[in-house]
Amino acid sequence: MEITEKEKGKDFSTRNARMDDIDEIIKINRLTLPENYPYYFFVEHLKEYNLAFFVAVADGKVVGYIMPRIEWGFSNLRQLPVLVRKGHVVSIAVLEEYRRRGIATALLNASMQSMKNDYKAEEVYLEVRVSNDPAIALYEKLGFSKVKVLKAYYADGEDAYLMARPL
Ligand code: ACO
Ligand code: ZN
Repeated sequence: MEITEKEKGKDFSTRNARMDDIDEIIKINRLTLPENYPYYFFVEHLKEYNLAFFVAVADGKVVGYIMPRIEWGFSNLRQLPVLVRKGHVVSIAVLEEYRRRGIATALLNASMQSMKNDYKAEEVYLEVRVSNDPAIALYEKLGFSKVKVLKAYYADGEDAYLMARPL
């Protein structure tokens, strides 16, 4: 089958993040999100939860990332207060020019698979600004639901939805 120039440009792949991706990951984080973190924060997450930390590569460069953490705490999904192992999506972002081609979906699916299989997490959760319609649409498409509102969660006072789904 012939591949057109346009389709070629839509090509991407995902792989586990490496230490030498850190600078590109931080650059994408600063370009796309107001929630930024110090260098060591990325390094620690990359070391600790490497199997579930992914980047997307297109046109020979990193164009997106998902930074996870694995936690032990109360279930966000069960009625009774049960302790479970949870995957936490700390941060996910895709460069603007590369959006709407399934990259965030691929990153989330890869990370959730690892959270479940490598880290034995039973559920996954995240926080998202209540105004972040694209991200909320993405999470809902992937089976997350809004669990609760976290009042004034962000530094500028905006509320967050805590969203979660089983793994
Ligand atoms: N408007 C409406 N729906 C959208 C949008 C949008 N702008 N973007 C994604 N979606 C929904 C759609 O249903 C889409 O499917 P479709 O394209 O077939 O309609 C589906 O999500 C999957 O979209 P992807 O192509 O996989 O998502 P993308 O690679 O574009 O990345 C992301 C989405 C990560 C939210 C991107 O817009 C981004 O980087 N935004 C800035 C950073 C950000 O807000 N990150 C999330 C913060 S919360 C947190 O990190 C836990
Ligand atoms: Zn969080």
